[in-house]
Amino acid sequence: MEQRSQWGTRAGFVLAAVGSAVGLGNIWRFPYVAYENGGGAFFIPYLFALLTAGIPILIMEFTMGHKYRGSAPLSFFRMSGKKAEWIGWWGIFVSFVISTYYAVIIAWAMKYTIYSFNLAWGTDTAGFLFGDVLNLAETPGQAGGFVPGILIPLLLVWVIAFIILFAGVKRGIELANRIFIPTLVVVFLLVVLRAVTLEGAALGLDAFFKPDLSKLADPTVWVAAYGHIFFSLSIAFAIMITYSSYLPKKSDITNNAFITGFANSGFELLAGIGVFAALGFMATQANVAVADVASAGVGLAFVVFPQIVNEMPGMNGLFGALFFLSLVLAGLTSLVSICETYIAGVSDKFNISRRRSVIIGVGLSAVISLLFATRGGLFFLDAADYFINQFGIAAIGLIEVILIAWVFRKLDVFENHANEISDIRLGGWWKFCLRFITPIVLGYMMFGLLKINLLKQHKDGEGNVIGNYEGYSDAFIWTSGWSVAIFAIVAAVIFTIFKWNSNTLNSSDYDKR
Ligand code: ALA
Repeated sequence: MEQRSQWGTRAGFVLAAVGSAVGLGNIWRFPYVAYENGGGAFFIPYLFALLTAGIPILIMEFTMGHKYRGSAPLSFFRMSGKKAEWIGWWGIFVSFVISTYYAVIIAWAMKYTIYSFNLAWGTDTAGFLFGDVLNLAETPGQAGGFVPGILIPLLLVWVIAFIILFAGVKRGIELANRIFIPTLVVVFLLVVLRAVTLEGAALGLDAFFKPDLSKLADPTVWVAAYGHIFFSLSIAFAIMITYSSYLPKKSDITNNAFITGFANSGFELLAGIGVFAALGFMATQANVAVADVASAGVGLAFVVFPQIVNEMPGMNGLFGALFFLSLVLAGLTSLVSICETYIAGVSDKFNISRRRSVIIGVGLSAVISLLFATRGGLFFLDAADYFINQFGIAAIGLIEVILIAWVFRKLDVFENHANEISDIRLGGWWKFCLRFITPIVLGYMMFGLLKINLLKQHKDGEGNVIGNYEGYSDAFIWTSGWSVAIFAIVAAVIFTIFKWNSNTLNSSDYDKR
């Protein structure tokens, strides 16, 4: 069996964990999620979710990976046998699905980095995205052939991810993060500094920070906060367990978790400030309210941002290129961590070499990602992303916490393990959050979410009931949404049934207490 990989330095691990956390979620997703959910009012649920669930679960996952020194399924197996192993695989299959579309968004960002230089998108940026770039199919569910323009950057994304992963944990992932993350910080700071000094920036910041307290009574705002925190911190989908399994025995767990969590949220806040300052500028130019220029999801980064770039008083191309380059850099370091989950899991379970596992895992994910490079790709991506986030990540977060706290009763063991090696000692608050607050709030939320989806009670921005998520047809919701979430669980159970190879099980380099 191969020697288990290990990070070279503590900074290397922290940079990799921050690199995983800071991703498309921070720059592309957070600003519009915050805005849609009450602007400043979103910070209350956001902070609550971060402090009571995000950081406590991050500490728990770091402790598990470090203690059991295995990929997610191996760590769960070492903790409590096959009854627990499936959760690790569930996280891995959720990651697998995410990697297939995450790579495609990075590919769009790559294209837009190049487009920035000559403002190729023209004045009708929505028409450009949906027409020229994506050649979007008429109806959700139609694949409608490949979009050649996306295939080339997509291939490039996979080649870069492959090279980093193939080079290994220390010489690939750690090295890439050492280069990409400092570069990202510099590039992104330049973007934010320029954005906040634009005319009208204060107007945008006002829209972003001004609380709409009426939204606090709306449970969907809380759902959004939890869902976002999990995605953004890379927790509950196998990543942080895998990364911490490469830590040396003497490592600080709790401190590293706080650093990672606060660095991620700091970056997120910065992204919100940068994006909304730019929106304020645009609203001022067009003489309209910020709400009229802020649009959701894909639109915010790929439709509205090019418009902002068009309006810039100078160095437009450079500003646009730096913004899209930060999306590419942040995305790549997260993509690598997402893929690492299944590379490690498959290699542990079937005793195949890491390199072979990279070829199989990345190869398969790259092939499946082609579906999102078709004319119907955006619709498939939207449905898969929604269902895998709600009924993949958030569901795993809930079940993982309930099982570990109440069924396998491991929190005391984990507390001792983390306290033995960390500067900051975990107190009762940590167990209280995981035993009570997270299961109750998240459980209530999940119940509401199931109800909305099964009874088709989704609403549009104006509060009208539109049936399924985004008003999609039943057939599309089942074939492209539910099926994806169900696939992750079924595949997890099947992979749990396979036998462990004896070499993995006999290796005794972990703390059995
Ligand atoms: N944590 C990663 C992100 O925010 C997945 O995009």
